[in-house]
Amino acid sequence: MRLDVQLGDRAYPILIGTDLLRVTGHLREAIAGKQVLILTDENVAPLYLQAVLAALDGLRTSTVTIAAGEASKTLANAERVFDALAALGAQRNACLIALGGGVVGDLGGFAAALWMRGIDFIQIPTTLLAMVDSSVGGKTAVNLAHGKNLVGAFWQPRRVIADIATLSTLPDREYRAGLAEVVKYGAICDGAFLTWLEDNTNALNDRSTSAIAHAVLRSCQHKAQIVARDERETGERALLNFGHTFGHTLETLGRYQTWLHGEAVAIGMTMAAQLSAHLGMAPQGDAQRLATLLRQFGLPTTASESAHSIVELMRLDKKTLSDVLRLILWRGVGRAEIVENVAPADIIASLQNAANGPAVPASATTLFSRVLD
Ligand code: NAD
Ligand code: GLY
Repeated sequence: MRLDVQLGDRAYPILIGTDLLRVTGHLREAIAGKQVLILTDENVAPLYLQAVLAALDGLRTSTVTIAAGEASKTLANAERVFDALAALGAQRNACLIALGGGVVGDLGGFAAALWMRGIDFIQIPTTLLAMVDSSVGGKTAVNLAHGKNLVGAFWQPRRVIADIATLSTLPDREYRAGLAEVVKYGAICDGAFLTWLEDNTNALNDRSTSAIAHAVLRSCQHKAQIVARDERETGERALLNFGHTFGHTLETLGRYQTWLHGEAVAIGMTMAAQLSAHLGMAPQGDAQRLATLLRQFGLPTTASESAHSIVELMRLDKKTLSDVLRLILWRGVGRAEIVENVAPADIIASLQNAANGPAVPASATTLFSRVLD
C-alpha cells in the first residue's frame, strides 16, 4: 500500500506492507547518491540491519548503532552520527536511513537536517508508534537536560517504509503503547475508525497482520493529511497532541521510568476526555467509551498521582504559572478541539471526580519538565 504526504516539491510516499525490507527496490530507488549512513539501535540491529544492508549493495555504507531508549536522543549521539558521516565522506547527496523506533527516527532526522545543512533521510520505522506517528511529519529532535525535544528541526523524510513484519519482534508492552496513538486518530477525527477499532480489538490484540495493516494505513492517512495542511503546527496539527499534556506530565512525574509514552498518552486521553465531559463539552458516555477501548487494548487509563501535582506540573510545563491552560479537549468521538482557557481548578475537580481510590501525592521533578511535542 502506498499513500503520499502532499507537501509540494517535498512530497513523499509512505509504503506500508509485510515484505518491504526484502524488496530492495523500495529503498534503493529513493537513494540519489553513493553514501548511506544507517542509524539504528542495539535491539533492532541484530534483527533487521542485514536486510537493509543487503538492499544497499554497491553503495558506500556505514552504520551507527546507539543504545536503545530515550536516553540516547542526545546531542552527543548526534555528534557520533556527524563523525560517522564525515568518516564516510558524506556529500550533500548522501542519505541517512533511520532504522528503528521513534528514538532512532527523531535523532536520525535531526542529524540529517543539520549535516551540510540538510541531506536526504529515509525512515524505516520498526515500532507501531513510529509507524503511525513519529516517522511521518518531519518533527525531529534531541533532548536536553532542560527539556525533551527542545532542540530540533522540521525535516521531512524522502520516504517512509513501514514493514509490518518487523512488528512481530516488538515486545508486547511497546506494541500496546503504539495502539494508544492509533486510538488517538479515531478519537480526534474519525469516529468510524474508532468503531472499527472497537470491532477489531481481538484481531489487534492477536496482532493480525491485516488488522495492523489497516490500522497503520488509516492512522498514516490522517497524519499525512493533517501534516499537509499544517506542517509547522500553527493550528490543526496541535490536535495530534490530544492527551499529550496530561501524558507528558505523568511521564515526568514517573521520571520516564513508570510509563511508556503511549501508555501515558492513553491515560492522558482518558483524563482529557473526562475533563471535556466535566466541562459539558463532550458526552460522559463517549469518555467512558474511549476508556473502555483503551483498556481492551491492555492500556492504563488511570494514574495514582494527585490531581494537584499533575496540574502544578502542567502549569510549569507551559513555562508560566498562568491562571488558564491551553489544552486539546474533546467534543466527543471524532472531534477534538483546541481550548485556550482551561481553568486549573476545573482540571483538579475533574481529576478528583474521576480518581479511583485515594490520590497518592507525588513530588514534581525537573527532569524534562519542559516538553515540546
Ligand atoms: P523507541 O525508539 O525507544 O523503541 C522502543 C523499544 O523497542 C526500544 O527498546 C527499541 O530498541 C525496541 N524496538 C524497536 N523496534 C523493534 C522491533 N521491531 N523489534 C524489537 N524491538 C524493537 O520508542 P518509540 O516508542 O518507537 O518512540 C518513542 C520516541 O518517539 C520518543 O523519543 C518520542 O519523543 C518520539 N516521538 C516523536 C514523534 C514525532 O513526531 N517526531 C511523535 C511521537 C513520538
Ligand atoms: N506527534 C505529533 C506531531 O507529529 O505533530
